[in-house]
Amino acid sequence: MKATVILGIESSCDDTSAAILRNREVLANVIANQNVHQAYGGVVPELASRAHQANIIPVVEAALKQARIDKTAIDAIAFTRGPGLLGSLLVGTSFAKGFALASKIPLLDVNHLHGHILAHFLTDPDYPDMQPPNFPYLCLLVSGGHTELVRVDAYDQMETIGQTIDDAAGEAFDKAAKIMGLGYPGGPLIDKFGKVGNPQAFSFPKPQVAPLDFSFSGLKTSFLYFLRKKIKENPDFIVQHRNDLCASLQFTIIDILTDKIKTAVKTTGIREIAIGGGVSANSALRQRLTGEAQKHKWRLHLPPLRYTTDNAAMIALSGYFKYLRGEFASQSITPVARSYAFLK
Ligand code: KG4
Ligand code: ZN
Repeated sequence: MKATVILGIESSCDDTSAAILRNREVLANVIANQNVHQAYGGVVPELASRAHQANIIPVVEAALKQARIDKTAIDAIAFTRGPGLLGSLLVGTSFAKGFALASKIPLLDVNHLHGHILAHFLTDPDYPDMQPPNFPYLCLLVSGGHTELVRVDAYDQMETIGQTIDDAAGEAFDKAAKIMGLGYPGGPLIDKFGKVGNPQAFSFPKPQVAPLDFSFSGLKTSFLYFLRKKIKENPDFIVQHRNDLCASLQFTIIDILTDKIKTAVKTTGIREIAIGGGVSANSALRQRLTGEAQKHKWRLHLPPLRYTTDNAAMIALSGYFKYLRGEFASQSITPVARSYAFLK
């Protein structure tokens, strides 16, 4: 059977990415990060859409070149329809529609969250040990905008069994980093400083919510109040204790996430565990889950770092599965900013 070549486009937040897949194999995955937001301590939507506009064509050209593929070889184009920033999504959606029309190829709309959840099925010669999960599996999706526990029964059958009632795990990292004046995005910085800190130096309260749900806004508030009190006593408290603060806060977030996975395993009896989304890049989370997996005999799937944060390879892959099912989008499709009812 002839291989299928898919071009994937991701533009939901602040990274512009294009990828080329041959069936499930990644031939190219190019990501242009946007540095314009750093000065503002968070993503500025208007600046993000303008940067996507500037980046999208060079990024697609770079992906084609890297994959050594001519654009006439592409069988279909997949793009992130949502959730995300509307202006950013519009750039990717419009590009994909134009490309599909000009090349006379089908258009595939992808739910960004499906991308993170299904990224484990990518194959990449750089990671020969990547093993796809068996169905059913549980996916902890932890990103800047989402924190969910998803039961995955098939590529197109998934159910959210728990989710955050307020902030996402990535937001907890980013907001805590902002409070400490560390910069944006906060997750990778807390990860870096936390590596050399003591995770038991300070303790922070864990939320009381439904067994499979999450909450992080209380943690952020208690972290803020704790620091305000300490700074009153010692204005240099943050500078002097930065590494311990990062390690302790990170420990609390990881403890919350790990407890929920354990509860989900007990409730569902599923021991096939995957994680996805930007926070799944966190080194301490990966280490902790590796230990828990050995202890509790879980089969754990940690995505390679390049497929944890936003990337177009995962979008192309979700699109590939839709292509096989013949689920194509029409030219009248529009982006949707909010999480919409894909995760039925
Ligand atoms: O999946 P993603 O790239 O974008 C969204 O769809 O939101 O996730 C971005 C989030 C940010 O909150 C960022 O701080 C967090 O992932 N993140 C991390 C790490 N790398 C990225 N959080 C903790 N540790 C990391 N190493
Ligand atoms: Zn994402």
